[in-house]
Amino acid sequence: MSDFEHVHETPPPGAAADWTIAQDWRSYSQVEHDTWDTLYARQMQVLPGRASDAFLNGLHALDLNAGGIPDFAVINPKLQALTGWTVVCVPGLVPDAVFFDHLANRRFPSGQFIRKPDQLDYLQEPDIFHDVFGHVPMLTDPDFADYMQAYGQGGQRAAGLGVLPQLARLYWYTVEFGLMQTTAGLRIYGAGIVSSATESVFALEDASPNRIAFDLERVMRTLYRIDDFQQVYFVIPSIEALKAETLKDFAGVYERLQGAEDIAVDAVLAEDDVLTRGTQAYAGRGGRFAA
Ligand code: PHE
Ligand code: CO
Repeated sequence: MSDFEHVHETPPPGAAADWTIAQDWRSYSQVEHDTWDTLYARQMQVLPGRASDAFLNGLHALDLNAGGIPDFAVINPKLQALTGWTVVCVPGLVPDAVFFDHLANRRFPSGQFIRKPDQLDYLQEPDIFHDVFGHVPMLTDPDFADYMQAYGQGGQRAAGLGVLPQLARLYWYTVEFGLMQTTAGLRIYGAGIVSSATESVFALEDASPNRIAFDLERVMRTLYRIDDFQQVYFVIPSIEALKAETLKDFAGVYERLQGAEDIAVDAVLAEDDVLTRGTQAYAGRGGRFAA
């Protein structure tokens, strides 16, 4: 990281040393609360039968549909009692080290703002709907709660070893865009999917993307796209299996990754355990803005 970037790695005015800010729940307008309710209702049209039980159970345990944007003072005691996690507000994206420190201490950093009514489908920066609706329900699952904390600790180590891009891919393809296998079929647990009505359907049902069994080193070598639906999803057998796989010491993994080549988003390798070989038709048509 350059010195130039370090200049900006201090909290903005009004934020604490750990970059947190007050949620100031009373400052939200009725329009903002209505935006939450609209997004919540829309997701509930698509998530039953598609989202994992861990996600749906968490959603109900935290009562995130009590009317408008959740008040952290109300949901934190419930979340804390379940798994020891809390959610805190930050003013947008924070430096990696700050992010990892929050996770390592079982604090999930959330944006404070909510998207505007004319941006319900597409936004560049995570808002409180993505962060709280998408991420926080999974933190009620004891194994996922442990995994997220371990990720924070692992991030601090990876930063020192220069392998953050590889570790970030693990986060991307699990925490953000993960699918899991269940006896009832494939289910979504990734926050980037469950907070998007269109990708919730695409990720499970569209013929375009590849769906490949999770393999730690394969995932850590795979590039990802931040501007459109994913071209590949990785499928874990269970949250317990994900946790068991990642609690291992990554020293040997990191060593092998140093010499390994990155893998393209649409690649299928001979050694992949492929659940669905995608057509890549959606990406081929030009993606989000294609007919
Ligand atoms: N086990 C990893 C290591 O040895 C840390 C880690 C845990 C990373 C869970 C990601 C998720 O560095
Ligand atoms: Co996210």
